[in-house]
Amino acid sequence: MKKKICLIGGSGILGKYYAEQLSKKHEVHVADIGLKNQKKTDNLSTYYLNIDNEKKIKSFFYKHKTKPFDILINNSALTTELAMKTIKSKEKNDIFSTEIFDETLKINLRGIFLCCKYFIKYHHKKNLDQRVINIGTIYALHSPHHKIYEKEKFFSSISYSASKAGIIGLTKWLASKYAKEKTNFNVLSPAGVFNNQSKTFIKKYKKLIPKNKMANESQIYSAIQFLISKNSDYIIGQNIYVDGGFTSW
Ligand SMILES: NC(=O)c1ccc[n+]([C@@H]2O[C@H](COP(=O)([O-])OP(=O)(O)OC[C@H]3O[C@@H](n4cnc5c(N)ncnc54)[C@H](O)[C@@H]3O)[C@@H](O)[C@H]2O)c1
Repeated sequence: MKKKICLIGGSGILGKYYAEQLSKKHEVHVADIGLKNQKKTDNLSTYYLNIDNEKKIKSFFYKHKTKPFDILINNSALTTELAMKTIKSKEKNDIFSTEIFDETLKINLRGIFLCCKYFIKYHHKKNLDQRVINIGTIYALHSPHHKIYEKEKFFSSISYSASKAGIIGLTKWLASKYAKEKTNFNVLSPAGVFNNQSKTFIKKYKKLIPKNKMANESQIYSAIQFLISKNSDYIIGQNIYVDGGFTSW
């Protein structure tokens, strides 16, 4: 059945892929700050939305309330790379930067909290089978292996881990609160997805994965398909890893 889907952060590397795939069958509404190269179709609409702004989030969900969203996917994130690009102060190279910590928590945790808040306020309907998927990471409950980032131009920040770990607690709280009302909340936590990282990085990373390879977009998307389907009806409050075994050692 065709669903109305809200995809927050649907313009990035993975978000774009999800938007394209989902819109083959469903009505998809992408909200993001970076809509530059986003395709629009009959089934795919886009909206500029910065999730650091509560008023704007509220009005976005309010505007769409006449026909409620069946599904909310919170895929946006201030990744470490994005934080380093957007933060202009000297602090950007400090691994203990309070500015990066505050910004990251503001987008990754407060922003997701607000999207859930206004989804519930304006779209939650007891008679509808609704789904919320909050996107986490393997680095929420498992630390990055710091050594593999030593010679790279990027790394994964303490703030990223802390904010994504918070999402798990938030999701479990919401899942139990709304379980009887047919709104299922879950976290989907991917491992690193191949995106032309350096050969040396991929070599080091692969050694940490029992499957011995990085993920691809379609493997993560398969889990989204499952979580929005009837087949996942009895699954709530879970943190589901799609990680080639990274968290299984
Ligand atoms: N790519 C990976 O290897 C990987 C691994 C584990 C988890 N994840 C998670 O998957 C999701 C997508 O990752 P990605 O690699 O595609 O990252 P990405 O940076 O390409 O996408 C993130 C999206 O969030 C949007 N965003 C950032 N700040 C925002 C704000 N203030 N308001 C609205 N939108 C905002 C960005 O514009 C971007 O479109 C993220 O939640 C990320 O943490 C990714």
